[in-house]
Amino acid sequence: MRRINIDRVKPGMVLGKTIYGYNYEMLLNKGVIITENHITRLKNKGFFKIYIDDEETADVVIEDPISDKIRIMATKDVLKTYTITQASLEHIEADTTEAIIKCINTQKIKRAFQENLAFKQLCKDMNAFVDEIMNTDVLSGLNSIKSFDNYTYEHSIDTAIIALIFGKRLSLNREKLKQIAMGEFLHDIGKIFIDEKIINKPGKLTPDEYEQVKLHTIYGYELLKDIGDIEAASAHITYQHHERQDGKGYPRGLRGNNRLDRGMIKYTDQEKIILIAEIAAIADFYDACISDRPYRKGLLPDFVYELIKSGSGTQFNKELVECFLGVMPKYPVGSEVRIKNGINKDFTGVVMSLNTQQLSRPKVKLLRDAKKNKITPFEFDLSSNSSIDMECIS
Ligand SMILES: [Fe+2]
Ligand SMILES: [Fe+2]
Repeated sequence: MRRINIDRVKPGMVLGKTIYGYNYEMLLNKGVIITENHITRLKNKGFFKIYIDDEETADVVIEDPISDKIRIMATKDVLKTYTITQASLEHIEADTTEAIIKCINTQKIKRAFQENLAFKQLCKDMNAFVDEIMNTDVLSGLNSIKSFDNYTYEHSIDTAIIALIFGKRLSLNREKLKQIAMGEFLHDIGKIFIDEKIINKPGKLTPDEYEQVKLHTIYGYELLKDIGDIEAASAHITYQHHERQDGKGYPRGLRGNNRLDRGMIKYTDQEKIILIAEIAAIADFYDACISDRPYRKGLLPDFVYELIKSGSGTQFNKELVECFLGVMPKYPVGSEVRIKNGINKDFTGVVMSLNTQQLSRPKVKLLRDAKKNKITPFEFDLSSNSSIDMECIS
């Protein structure tokens, strides 16, 4: 199996993973032979990348960090929690930041959120979600199939998965992991209080629009801070996930000390970012960057991996970045790659499997030569070819 851009999907190819619609109804079942009509429909619905099963990559197994069942359950809960709360905002006219904050703190909005059946369900489903992630040690690949419409919800689930695997690596206890999951599910909920035209704008934001988007951190925190089922730490993920170690983040310009202060978390501290929000900052950045958006294509995973490395110490907690490099492969399984040097220079193929000892030096199955001609596929192990460089191409 491999993941390819929708532009390169051809009729006759076999779908590798089931695709779901906005309400998580099944759009196309895995195993279906793709037609021209399917491709047009998927493009119109804003799908960018899908999974294909073919003979060449039949032995490439992309393991999901989470089952379809649990992913759909959690994504539906998040989607409904957002949309039902958003529906309660109708007829509310508040156009200044202060007026919006005042409105968020009214009983009407708080109740719409807290008494929302979807939110109650989310609280219940949390355990099953955390349980499943506990069986995963590293992420072989990220498997959500995002479209324009479901981006926010899939993004919330994917950031939760990344952050929980981090949390597990750091041996955080179950309480903390649940706080992470809840905080990640709802980290961008403040966006429902911002004009949809700005949130869904297909082009670059103006400075004023960008200032408004930044407020989603404050709005989200105002909504969650006194909800009984939400721990203070989870609300602070919403508040702090765009803060940076060097104090140049938003909304408060908090700072980090680039260390793992596991036992020293004080939620009332006005200066310091809490650890689980520092985890959220990396998870959020990674997933937002690799995802395709209406205004830009997703960045390639190896490039985003390097961006996180280069942000270590300034944007991201240095010790956490070290941990990130131990759970997130530079080249996810199923990615298409190109060899950059050596006798196989410009050969292309697909990442087959990871070497757990050297996560960034996987086994690759090479399928095409430098002239793009099909070759008899052969396995190439980067861990035993240390001078060879490689890059993702899709
Ligand atoms: Fe955000
Ligand atoms: Fe986000």
